[in-house]
Amino acid sequence: MHKPSSETVIDTDSFNALAELAYRESGLQLAIEKTSMLQSRLRHRLSALGLQDFANYSAFVCSEEGKTERRHMISALTTNVSHFFREKHHFEILKRHIQSELLPRLRSGGRVRVWSAGCSNGQEALSIAMTFLELAIEVAELDLRILATDIDPSVIQFAKKASYQKRLVENIPEDLLQKYFTRSESEGDSFYVASEKILQLVRYRELNLLSDWPITQRIDVVFCRNVVIYFDVPTQNLLWPRFKEVLGPAGILFLGHSERISNPESFGFASDGPTTYRASVLGAGSSNSLKD
Ligand SMILES: C[S@@+](CC[C@H](N)C(=O)[O-])C[C@H]1O[C@@H](n2cnc3c(N)ncnc32)[C@H](O)[C@@H]1O
Repeated sequence: MHKPSSETVIDTDSFNALAELAYRESGLQLAIEKTSMLQSRLRHRLSALGLQDFANYSAFVCSEEGKTERRHMISALTTNVSHFFREKHHFEILKRHIQSELLPRLRSGGRVRVWSAGCSNGQEALSIAMTFLELAIEVAELDLRILATDIDPSVIQFAKKASYQKRLVENIPEDLLQKYFTRSESEGDSFYVASEKILQLVRYRELNLLSDWPITQRIDVVFCRNVVIYFDVPTQNLLWPRFKEVLGPAGILFLGHSERISNPESFGFASDGPTTYRASVLGAGSSNSLKD
């Protein structure tokens, strides 16, 4: 088996072919400045396949036989950094909507659906679940579901295990950590495992945002944060009407701190706080065909 050395560098043709493939498959934009990132993240794939250089890797991953490898490649190239209660102000806004609209609806027998789109290791979905439970513990018995999806199968696997190292739970207030996590020790490390109380609210699925969305029920709140920053504007602009389509009237869309919808009104959204958008009742895509 050939082994690439840590010095193995990528040639321009292979870089272009891989960047084009990543863009087509997942929307990830890899400018030439990302060359060393791409090299370092993909070298282990060359080793795993016994390939000596990037030219062979690029030929394989772009071929018909490279279908499975394409998933490994996208998994290696995505950035999965996340934190519990990241961008706290969004959770304050969420709290207000829970109290004013979502909780009254749940209590009167209605349904509430939240989507963490690009959920990474699950920190965002579990933060949403804790926010609901802290306001009303009975939501566990009501019709609340948090759908959490990501293109990267390895993060979905991690999220389902829901076992977080100590450094990953630092942003969780101590009382919530005590209430919703169980501490365990393994090989000298402390792990915090999410309890059934929060996990039962969340459904994890693998989903590429550029593919079809098997969503048949109206969504009330979408968190799609720190995901579209890796996409170009045309790709982002393909997503806004699709979010508008799945969101119910007055549904809420949270984006990451450096993400924006430019001209939100043209996509049927109104700005509603820092990187927060509300689907307008009237406007583009208002003939929502999803069931109530
Ligand atoms: C930086 S993380 C953001 C996690 C979380 N939303 C947050 O803000 O902390 C970006 C996530 O988007 C996912 N992602 C990238 N491209 C995607 C695509 N085309 N479809 C679905 N998820 C994608 C990545 O796998 C990664 O887990």
